Amino acid sequence: MSKKLFLMLSVLTFLFMIFAIGLAQEEKAEKKEEPVYQYIGVKKCSMCHKKDGTTPSWEKTPHADAWTNVDTLKLSDEEKEVCKGCHATGVTEDGDFLANVQCEACHGPGSEYKTMKIMKDVELAMKNGLIIPDEETCLNCHNKEKAPEQFHADMPEKFDYAKMKETGIHELPEEKAEEAKEKE
Ligand code: HEC
Ligand code: HEC
Ligand code: HEC
Ligand code: HEC
Repeated sequence: MSKKLFLMLSVLTFLFMIFAIGLAQEEKAEKKEEPVYQYIGVKKCSMCHKKDGTTPSWEKTPHADAWTNVDTLKLSDEEKEVCKGCHATGVTEDGDFLANVQCEACHGPGSEYKTMKIMKDVELAMKNGLIIPDEETCLNCHNKEKAPEQFHADMPEKFDYAKMKETGIHELPEEKAEEAKEKE
């Protein structure tokens, strides 16, 4: 091999390596920008939100046994897959199935916002996946067009947010605190 050719190949190899390293770093940076939020399940949220009354109050809503109403029907696993979109919450990182409409179905997957430090700062929590639900959140599931007709003939055509909030959402800790004050 001539010296000239050897030099040229070396320079080319060097340039290619720089290019490859650059590409790898770019990929890493992109991954950092889009953290993947994972579901952790109501048991984990309850470690902090049982005492403030949120979990016990949620347990009394129809959402807390939304899966039971599907599970008691004689359906194949395949048919049940469709129901999971609205009657269940998701799957944890370890693959555990989270039945029913749990906290994270409305508030977003909690893996990145669950720590005390982040939770205490709402804005920071929202940057890490926390959702403060509104009517749009409910409409993801309370949507007659998306729900299989066979099981949802009675579902109202139009979702009445004000009315549905009364029984669909847990008590808010703030309201609880106010109630307690009034009783004093
Ligand atoms: C380590 C304790 C802890 C865990 C675990 C935790 N939280 Fe929190 N959460 C807090 C604290 C503390 C606050 C802020 C004080 C407050 O308003 O109660 C808070 C506030 C919130 C708020 C209100 C934000 C606002 O101010 O409007 C929501 C919604 C919430 N948490 C949902 C969840 C959900 C859903 C989970 C489970 C995925 C969860 N939290 C897990 C401690 C926790
Ligand atoms: C697009 C979301 C969505 C999907 C998908 C869905 N459901 Fe539902 N389902 C709902 C909502 C929302 C309600 C509550 C309706 C209401 O307000 O009356 C409901 C209510 C029900 C009820 C009535 C519960 C009661 O209180 O009597 C049954 C039974 C049911 N669904 C079965 C199923 C089955 C079985 C599947 C899968 C084959 C399924 N659903 C798929 C959203 C959905
Ligand atoms: C059906 C949807 C839904 C589910 C399920 C749900 N929430 Fe909420 N949650 C809401 C809505 C709506 C609000 C009020 C948001 C606002 O302030 O406008 C709220 C507010 C809260 C707040 C803030 C209260 C405040 O104003 O200080 C906390 C804390 C909270 N939820 C925790 C939880 C926990 C923990 C669970 C599960 C045990 C849960 N939520 C399940 C819809 C839901
Ligand atoms: C992840 C899907 C999902 C979301 C998000 C959701 N719901 Fe539901 N909701 C359901 C299902 C499924 C049922 C039926 C439960 C059952 O099987 O009884 C239901 C039932 C209800 C019921 C009882 C209806 C009845 O006729 O008995 C109310 C009220 C309600 N939801 C209010 C709300 C409100 C308000 C929101 C938004 C803050 C909301 N839901 C968000 C899935 C959802």
